[in-house]
Amino acid sequence: MVRTPAAVRDAERWTAHNYHPLPVVISSAEGAWLTDVDGRRYLDCLAGYSALNFGHRHPQLIAAAHAQLDRLTLTSRAFIHDQFADFCRELAELCGKDLVLPMNTGAEAVETAIKVARKWGYQVKGVPAGQATIVVAEGNFHGRTTTIVSFSTDTDARDDFGPYTPGFRIVPYGDLAALEAAIDDTTVAVLIEPIQGEQGVVVPPEGYLPGVRRVCTERNVLFVADEIQSGLGRTGSTFACDDEGVTPDMYLLGKALGGGIVPVSAVVADAEVLGVLRPGQHGSTFGGNPLACAVATEVVRLLATGEFQRRSAELGARLHESLRALVGQGLVAVRGRGLWAGIDIDPALMSGREACERLAERGVLAKDTHGSTIRLAPPLVVTAEELDHAVEQLAAVLAGAR
Ligand SMILES: Cc1ncc(COP(=O)(O)O)c(C=O)c1O
Repeated sequence: MVRTPAAVRDAERWTAHNYHPLPVVISSAEGAWLTDVDGRRYLDCLAGYSALNFGHRHPQLIAAAHAQLDRLTLTSRAFIHDQFADFCRELAELCGKDLVLPMNTGAEAVETAIKVARKWGYQVKGVPAGQATIVVAEGNFHGRTTTIVSFSTDTDARDDFGPYTPGFRIVPYGDLAALEAAIDDTTVAVLIEPIQGEQGVVVPPEGYLPGVRRVCTERNVLFVADEIQSGLGRTGSTFACDDEGVTPDMYLLGKALGGGIVPVSAVVADAEVLGVLRPGQHGSTFGGNPLACAVATEVVRLLATGEFQRRSAELGARLHESLRALVGQGLVAVRGRGLWAGIDIDPALMSGREACERLAERGVLAKDTHGSTIRLAPPLVVTAEELDHAVEQLAAVLAGAR
């Protein structure tokens, strides 16, 4: 008996409808492949929104998790555990920074950065109490908390969740002059994604990120790079900022840092920035727990080899070349870098959602965003043949609608 329809119905019945998932019910996975409750196999071209950069159940990460589960899982930060220092040191070294503040979800890392930037503004920069401002970009996606949705420009994400947190100035993404004009003596930080993932893998114009760096340095403002989705190998470099030769003052990391096993996020910065926090001013019961640290340390070690960044760069070039060949054949635009692509389907053919449903029928899982856009972000362990297969299925879906 086919199990999927009942499993979909059950899931819909018992959950709040804050997501609109594709009607597939996954029961196991390995590498770049998922298997559903009816035994159908799918190539994963979303990778948990980049949380699965190393694929499903990477053996080194699973081994670290198993070993840690058998020894120690949680202490809280009231005590120090033996996985903590290695994780913080190795991640700080990967980032070229002094200190690490571990949290759990991406949104928590962003909230942490906002608090740290404001405190830095009052204590180091000398901004008058309660006046701090942070410059953010239109089309941003930084998470779902009430403060973060306060500066979202997506009406679905923001509407009816007020009253909103003040202190944010929104400027067009990629417009350096507008960003510079929004900065004044109250500005403590510029918070941006080096590539806007949720917005459809939007890459800013060349020179924008170095420009943001220059302006932040000149105006004594912290450059906070939200690399939660763009970082940790996704673009073909360790960080998307690397592609433009830029070093921010704070890296915000999440998603892939937990190896697709546990939620792990972190704020990474130098001591003059993170050093503003004192005991009692910020924290999390689960942040930096032993299981999280054991897995995330192995993630950092995988990245330190450079292998995943190399794969992403090389295979990404292949992916983008074959996707560009579909422009005019049902695609109207292709954006992105490395194994990360935002593709716009010709809206006259079908919506992004319909395209994803048809791809799923052909054994390829991807997710639409903003109407006619699909985001492709396969695990970095995907092979060239698997990528070619995914693009062939996309071409077939587009051809079938023309
Ligand atoms: C750039 C960026 N920042 C923050 C977040 C929020 O992360 P989380 O869902 O783990 O809270 C996301 C999630 O998609 C993201 O893409």
